[in-house]
Amino acid sequence: MTQLPGLLSAAPYDVEAIRKDFPLLDRQVHDGKKVVYLDNAATSQKPRQVLDALSAYYERHNANVHRGVHVLAEEATALYEGARDKVAAFINAPSRDEVIFTKNASESLNLVANMLGWADEPYRVDGDTEIVITEMEHHSNIVPWQLLAQRTGAKLKWFGLTDDGRLDLSAIDQIITEKTKVVSFTLVSNILGTFNPVEAIVRRAQSVGALVVVDASQAAPHMLLDVQALQADFVAFTGHKMCGPTGIGVLWGRQELLEDLPPFLGGGEMIETVSMHSSTYAPAPHKFEAGTPPIAQAVGLGAAVDYLTAIGMENIADHERMLTEYAVGELARVPDLRIIGPTTAEDRGATISFTLGDIHPHDVGQVLDEQGIAVRVGHHCARPVCLRYGIPATTRASFYLYSTRAEVDALAEGLEYVRNFFG
Ligand SMILES: Cc1ncc(COP(=O)(O)O)c(C=O)c1O
Repeated sequence: MTQLPGLLSAAPYDVEAIRKDFPLLDRQVHDGKKVVYLDNAATSQKPRQVLDALSAYYERHNANVHRGVHVLAEEATALYEGARDKVAAFINAPSRDEVIFTKNASESLNLVANMLGWADEPYRVDGDTEIVITEMEHHSNIVPWQLLAQRTGAKLKWFGLTDDGRLDLSAIDQIITEKTKVVSFTLVSNILGTFNPVEAIVRRAQSVGALVVVDASQAAPHMLLDVQALQADFVAFTGHKMCGPTGIGVLWGRQELLEDLPPFLGGGEMIETVSMHSSTYAPAPHKFEAGTPPIAQAVGLGAAVDYLTAIGMENIADHERMLTEYAVGELARVPDLRIIGPTTAEDRGATISFTLGDIHPHDVGQVLDEQGIAVRVGHHCARPVCLRYGIPATTRASFYLYSTRAEVDALAEGLEYVRNFFG
C-alpha cells in the first residue's frame, strides 16, 4: 500500500512556514487584496498534507470499508480504522473503540441526546428528570436537548452568564440537582471565546450521578484535549474546524456507557445479525456508525491530527495565547469597540466578538470584506448570548495556528476604516 503524504515538521514555531502549508492563505480577493482569514471559529483552512491525503485516498485506495475481501477494501478499511487510532491517540482515549465517527459535532450531540432518550434505567431521561446546559451554547448543543426535553417531558435548565461573559455558577447546587440526568456544556464558547471551568461542573455533576457531555468543537483545534483528564462521559467535536475536511465529526464516549446505551440510527455496518423479526448489534463504535461511513473524510481528519500533532498542540495554544493578548489590546484601542466576552486574554480563546458603536455588524463585515478581511457577523448560532447582552448580532474575528500579528494589525486598521466610512 502506498504511504499517504507525510509531514513537514514546523518546530520551533514558525508561523510563516506553517502558512506555506495552506494554499488558500495565498488567495487574493477583491482586485488583488491578499485575504486575511479571520473566520476560523466557523471553519479552518486545510493544509496541503490534508488535501494530499484526501486525493491519495481517492486516487489509490477508494473502496467501501469492512467485510471486503479485495485488496482495495482492505486498504480502505485500514486507512479508515487507522484514522480512528490517530484520533484516539490525539484525545488520549483509553480505547480506540470509544471513538465514534459522525458527520459533525451537531450529529455527535444529537447522537448522545438520542441514546439517552431511548436508554433504559439508570440512564433514561424522562419526565421526572432534568437536563442542564448553559446560556452560551452553540445551537447544536441547545436544540438536541430541547427536542429531548419536549419528547420525554424532562425539564431543561441552564446556567446563565455574568456581565463579563463567564458562566454564572453561583447557583450550581440548585441548577444541578439529584434529578439531573445529564449536564452538557461547551469547553470554549464559539461567540464569547470563554474557557469554561470544567472541574467545578464535573465535580457537581458526578456528585449527583449525572452524565457529563462536553462540546469540545472550539477546543480540539486549539489546545491539548485529554478526555481522561476532563473526566467527562462524552466529548464531541468536529473535523472541519481543526484542519480536517467537512463531513466528519467525533463522539468520544466511555466504553461501559457505549456498551450499555442503545443505537440511534439503524442500518448496515452497525449490526451483528439480522432476521425479519429482530437484529443484534455490533459492538461500539460500529453500533453507532450505521451505513457507509465518511471514509475519505476520516482519512483527512487523520492527516489533520498528524499535522497538528507534529506542530504540537501546546505550541499552537501558546501562539494563540500570544495573539489573543495582542488582539485584545489592539482592539481595545479602537474607539467605540465593545468586546462581548472576557476583555482580557485570561481563560479565553482566540475568538473575539465585538460591537462597533451603533454600526450594524453586517455593515462592519461587508466593509472589512472589501478590504480582504474575512470575519463572521450575526449571532454565530448562539442567539441566546446576543439576547443576554441585548444586541442583535456581533462581528467575530477568530484566529488560528497560522494567524499573525500583522493580521491583527490589518483588522484594527480595517475597523478604523469602517468607522471613518460610516462617519
Ligand atoms: C461550540 C460549537 N459547537 C458545535 C458546533 C457545530 O459544529 P458543526 O456545524 O460542525 O456540527 C460549532 C460550530 O460552529 C461550535 O462552534
